[in-house]
Amino acid sequence: MSALSILFATSEMAPWVKTGGLGDVAAALPASLRKAGHDIRVLLPAYPALKTAFPEAELVASLPALAPGLPACRLLSAKASGLPLLLLECPELFDRPGNPYLDASGQDWPDNAIRFGLLSRVAARLGQPDSPLDWAADVVHANDWQAALAPAFLHYQGGAASVVTVHNIAFQGCFGREMLAALGLPEHAWRFDGVEYHDQLSFLKSGLQLCSQISTVSPTYAREIQDEHFGYGLAPLLRHRSDALRGILNGVDTGIWNPATDPALPFAYAANRLAAKRANKTALQTEMGLDVTADRPLFGVISRLTHQKGLDLLLTIADGLPDLPAQLVVLGSGDKAMEAGFAELAARFPKQIAVKLGFDEALAHRIEAGSDCFVMPSRFEPCGLNQMYSLRYGTPPIVRATGGLADTVVDVCEDSLADKSANGFVLDGDTPHALWVAMERVCRTWQDKKLWQRVQQNGMRRDFSWTHAANEYVALYRDAIARKA
Ligand code: ADP
Ligand code: GLC
Repeated sequence: MSALSILFATSEMAPWVKTGGLGDVAAALPASLRKAGHDIRVLLPAYPALKTAFPEAELVASLPALAPGLPACRLLSAKASGLPLLLLECPELFDRPGNPYLDASGQDWPDNAIRFGLLSRVAARLGQPDSPLDWAADVVHANDWQAALAPAFLHYQGGAASVVTVHNIAFQGCFGREMLAALGLPEHAWRFDGVEYHDQLSFLKSGLQLCSQISTVSPTYAREIQDEHFGYGLAPLLRHRSDALRGILNGVDTGIWNPATDPALPFAYAANRLAAKRANKTALQTEMGLDVTADRPLFGVISRLTHQKGLDLLLTIADGLPDLPAQLVVLGSGDKAMEAGFAELAARFPKQIAVKLGFDEALAHRIEAGSDCFVMPSRFEPCGLNQMYSLRYGTPPIVRATGGLADTVVDVCEDSLADKSANGFVLDGDTPHALWVAMERVCRTWQDKKLWQRVQQNGMRRDFSWTHAANEYVALYRDAIARKA
């Protein structure tokens, strides 16, 4: 089969700009597709961190203002371990420190429609006959709302096939009607089966309506978002387009997330060398100022602190943990009330509960390795990467049965132990009490060292590499091209 030319448009990419799992996916999936022989290029804004990381980036195109509200911009080309990047340079929009979406007070940047309208517009242009490069994509792959207007431009102006991947349907990018003309979309696009959504211009709705194929990041989430409760208003549209919708489970970058080679860990270990995992626990307890003890399990959390992640359930019951007995380490940031709640808990139980507010990549690795059990009681979870990282790190997770958590975590029971699929703990319900019961169950199971080791090894031996997902994306791209034709 012929190699494809793919433009992968994203608003973040690890390790340079990452607020969550999209950053990890944007680094690993394109690299896998390139390895499979496809000509893939990643388009993303030239944020300051990228300009610093790639000072040698070469100017490859200067684009005039593409619409009344869009500024002129430039494309710089760079390579990340061989993977071609196209950095969208527009200092007035992207030369801002910190979070790519929010200002210092945690509010959306007021010009996000223009910032990501430009990203979408340029992504489309790279799939159109007048591409500014001597290259044009066969398929434009738009990730999340920030790139999801690209299919609208390709639909109304002509161009390549397009794919939209939903990493989180709760974020839809909705703006005022005046953006239609500002971004250069035609007046007749303002229709319920065009870009209009409840009298707003919705980037995500436009993409889902007008792209050739849709994917999301797990099979269960692909089913869930067709249901009113999970669809955040877009369920009817997704049901209407269900023949174009597929769930492809994310993989894990096994080069980065491997406890045998992870440079962030004080002690390397593997499924057949689990003793050194205990040394990582001691090191983590020391680093976080906890009592150094081997007599109780250490629960770990690494998360955005938002309603999605269900960590308010943990906050409600966490003051019971020291008596369970168990310890807890939390790394996260987000909702200010939740941040304050966790900080206060740590102040009350400094030897049993440790909290670090902020984003810390290396500490995230040490928590995956040093904890006994990872806590992820998400209300919804399109895929979730952290539970997969914890499975690989021999840190069985506690999860709710939703989205990618349901597709990756198998509750410990007689049957799953017999067929060696048991790898974690699934909450029975979505209440603080259900979480408490699950944590008690973890503590009992953990006391049985032989049983615990079997559960750890089941998780560590499961194949989460990207190869399988990359093949499914190639099939999706080919279907998108066929559908467009
Ligand atoms: P989401 O994308 O919804 O936040 P995922 O589980 O898919 O959830 O991915 C989260 C990613 O972000 C993981 O790589 C996780 O380690 C990382 N992460 C989240 N919060 C932090 C933090 N405070 N410090 C370091 N890494 C974090
Ligand atoms: C989103 C989702 C998360 C998923 C990630 C990468 O941030 O919340 O579940 O793993 O995207 O696809």
